[in-house]
Amino acid sequence: MEAAAQQELAAQAQPSGLRERIGFVGAGQMGEALIRGFIQSGVSTAANLSASVRSEERQRAMQQLGIQVFGNALLGGAEALCEASDIIVLGVKPQYLDSILEALRPHLGARHLIISIAAGAASAYVLGNHATLEDGEKAYALFSSVGLAIPVEERMMDAVTGLSGSGPAYVFLAIEALADGAVAAGLPRDKALALAAQTVSGAARMVLEAAGDNSLTHPAVLKDKVTSPAGTTIVGLAELESAGVRGALIRAVKAAARRSEEMG
Ligand SMILES: NC(=O)c1ccc[n+]([C@@H]2O[C@H](COP(=O)([O-])OP(=O)(O)OC[C@H]3O[C@@H](n4cnc5c(N)ncnc54)[C@H](OP(=O)(O)O)[C@@H]3O)[C@@H](O)[C@H]2O)c1
Repeated sequence: MEAAAQQELAAQAQPSGLRERIGFVGAGQMGEALIRGFIQSGVSTAANLSASVRSEERQRAMQQLGIQVFGNALLGGAEALCEASDIIVLGVKPQYLDSILEALRPHLGARHLIISIAAGAASAYVLGNHATLEDGEKAYALFSSVGLAIPVEERMMDAVTGLSGSGPAYVFLAIEALADGAVAAGLPRDKALALAAQTVSGAARMVLEAAGDNSLTHPAVLKDKVTSPAGTTIVGLAELESAGVRGALIRAVKAAARRSEEMG
């Protein structure tokens, strides 16, 4: 079989996989999680992935994943990475972005698509001014392979940060408080914590399950379903409402969004 035909067949065998080579500049906690996710989901392969990383410890971690490894982006790694990639994912902390972009700039060509994860938004993404529809499809293919991927407009990013960026901390606090309540009611701490976390995770999954018409299930509908007359749940809900939990959560997201705007 001819090489071209073999390539075509390989591509057909992996319909959801991207052919583009993807290079990470900085692959710490978030970058490594994405690289693992891309390989596991089949949206990319180790052969198509590479990373420019700084410390020897990170270089060893990347080698163990079987991907190509380049050194510090500011010391030559950027050039090598650009040559080896079509899509470049910026996985460094925001304070390094300017110097990293400066190092990348001379080696970037028209084929390169740059994706920054530095905003700290879990799954929402913004198309830059020069990004095409096709670029958006590639970003969606990558990030939907490891979770929800939601396109938003630039002006919505502060709200996304207030919710998805800071929200995990609010939920950790809620899990801790729920467990405290169960401990107060007589459950051992380890069992209380496991049940509290499972309760939050299960409830979130139920909201995310499609309602049948491809929309999410509204949480108020689920809440009403699990609240029986004169039961335990309604007295608990009444306590939460009288403590103003709903308003506190709304204010928390708004305050975090405002802070994100202030920080630019
Ligand atoms: N999208 C999300 O849900 C999400 C979640 C969390 C974080 N984030 C964002 O993702 C970014 C990375 O966060 P993280 O938690 O993964 O940070 P991290 O663990 O500190 O990873 C950043 C990596 O960048 C590397 N690096 C720094 N300078 C470099 C250079 N000159 N050349 C090559 N590599 C360099 C560091 O290398 P060394 O370790 O070798 O120093 C480090 O491994 C942050 O901007 C964060 O806000 C996004």
